[in-house]
Amino acid sequence: MKGVILAGGLGTRLLPLTRVTNKHLLPVYDRPMIYYPIQCLVNAGIEDIMVVTGGNDAGDFLTLLGNGKEFGLRDLHYTYQEGEGGIADALRLAENFADGDKIVVVLGDNIIEKTIKQAVGEFFTQQRGAKILLKEVPDPERFGVAELNGENVIGIEEKPKKPKSNLAVIGIYMYDRQVFEFIRGLKPSERGELEITDVNNFYIEQGTLTHSTLDGWWSDAGTFSSLDRTWRLVADSGANLVGDNAKADGVEKSAASVTGPK
Ligand code: DAU
Repeated sequence: MKGVILAGGLGTRLLPLTRVTNKHLLPVYDRPMIYYPIQCLVNAGIEDIMVVTGGNDAGDFLTLLGNGKEFGLRDLHYTYQEGEGGIADALRLAENFADGDKIVVVLGDNIIEKTIKQAVGEFFTQQRGAKILLKEVPDPERFGVAELNGENVIGIEEKPKKPKSNLAVIGIYMYDRQVFEFIRGLKPSERGELEITDVNNFYIEQGTLTHSTLDGWWSDAGTFSSLDRTWRLVADSGANLVGDNAKADGVEKSAASVTGPK
């Protein structure tokens, strides 16, 4: 399985912080934001990773991350999204990199406390389709929100005024190769973006979307208040949050590798 980190877009909700730099290069406590999603994938055993950048100073990703040596990676792949066409528009750019493999997609501003290793392992054995992760939140109207019938997710609404549950769809998604076909069929939403929620709803219609509930805290960092919250959560988790995540698995990184047929 391969990993894709979406770090494009213009980060306009964080202006003027994002006027001269990319949102995902901003600090969250003791390291740049982009470090957390990379470590999240590495902790799940995924070592073949593409970063989709965009906006200002995209070259700084290369200066900062290089070939990903700091994360124990052999190399890192990069591509560039022009403009701010939406999450699905950014993901579209990873089609050649995915090359038919299953992918785990992490939004560059989503940070989690623990590990997704179990969910990734489950998706590895899932024959086809997609898998999403849900988290109970006090403010679901800020996110994609899942509607459940018993154990099944029967629909997802993007930032609904009247949410049908308090279960947010977090910014970590697992897809099979069909995802790129679904993206080609998308039309821009009212906010002019290709929405990842529409992609997830395609899988629901097909009956191939599964879900898990995320253990531990989750936060995005795309607004001043959520960036502040995330910073405090990370700081309270200890200076070595990402190292601790790996340790919390109780498994050596090499033993945690999830590899599959290419
Ligand atoms: O944080 C989880 C939420 O993320 C989900 O619950 C929502 O369903 C999903 O739509 C998304 O909502 P946001 O409105 O918060 O997404 P935002 O526009 O902040 O984008 C999140 C990340 O996606 C951003 O840090 C980088 C990447 N992105 C976004 C856009 C719009 C791109 O790479 N390119 C883009 O054009």
